Amino acid sequence: MQVECSSCKTRYRVNDDSIPAGKAVRLACKTCKLPILIEGKPLKGEDEPPPNGDSATLKAKITKSIKDLPLIPQVVVEIQNQLSQMNVNMQQVAKMIETDPGITSKVLRIANSAYYGASGRTSTIMQACVILGLRGLSEVVILAGSEKVLSGKLPGYGYDAGDLWKHSLAVAFGSKILANLRDPGISSAAHTAGLLHDIGRIILDPYIGERKAQIREYMETRQKTFLDAEIEHFGFSHAEVAAEVCQAWKFPDFMSKAIHWHHNPGGSNGDLLSYILHMADHIALMGGVGYDDDDILNEVQKDAMSYLQLKQSDLSEILMKVMESVNQIGMS
Ligand SMILES: [Fe+2]
Ligand SMILES: [Fe+2]
Repeated sequence: MQVECSSCKTRYRVNDDSIPAGKAVRLACKTCKLPILIEGKPLKGEDEPPPNGDSATLKAKITKSIKDLPLIPQVVVEIQNQLSQMNVNMQQVAKMIETDPGITSKVLRIANSAYYGASGRTSTIMQACVILGLRGLSEVVILAGSEKVLSGKLPGYGYDAGDLWKHSLAVAFGSKILANLRDPGISSAAHTAGLLHDIGRIILDPYIGERKAQIREYMETRQKTFLDAEIEHFGFSHAEVAAEVCQAWKFPDFMSKAIHWHHNPGGSNGDLLSYILHMADHIALMGGVGYDDDDILNEVQKDAMSYLQLKQSDLSEILMKVMESVNQIGMS
């Protein structure tokens, strides 16, 4: 079969038999180094999805690809799950981190950033565990593990390298600040959920790329956002896909639920974390830490301000803190 890189348009010939039926593999484009998603033939009895995507078929395919293609290192998911347990064995967690040298060096770099305040005092993971404590360590590990995947270009959506990462950082810190105001007990979960809230865009990006012209035309002629376009063309959004990713990683259900509703917290049955993610997303866009030309069309839900007991002046104050945190992390 012939495959084309959705970014630089380089074409490749791929041996059909090298891709297992019913599976998808991701290869790096030799020219621009961005990933190309290549899907194998459908399994026997499985229909080819129609060009515009039968919603259920496409969703099933995406769900399968989530399991087949880990977005962040498995060790990071395991550590995250360990750190959310009641009785955590710090030494065991430190050993798990040290099994991955790439993650180890990133954890130390972030722990020594101005934001986490260890400022050059941390040279071992065990020291980082002691200085940061459980919550701090959990935040640093997920930042270290997701930086690479969230930093790439998303040619379908038209995001440059680093755009989604900076937005995700802003939403993570905004969510943490909002959680500390309303329920400090969920601040760590709010940070992680904020960081991963748009991870579904990474999975949908190649499918958006395949339909780029149609989607652009739909958005421009009807004044619609990417979110509207996803629902129109796929029958589901990046928020639902991101929630599936969190479920596949066995993150707590309340985190997946909040990610699912981050664009429509009114549908969450009054879930605090859903409103927090929604508001943090809005604050990031307010500060220009968004990504594209549909930002202006994204609106905050009417009841979100009153639900979170916020005044307009609170938003600019939170935005300042968010920007300061993003700069202090020094990863953008
Ligand atoms: Fe989103
Ligand atoms: Fe977002």
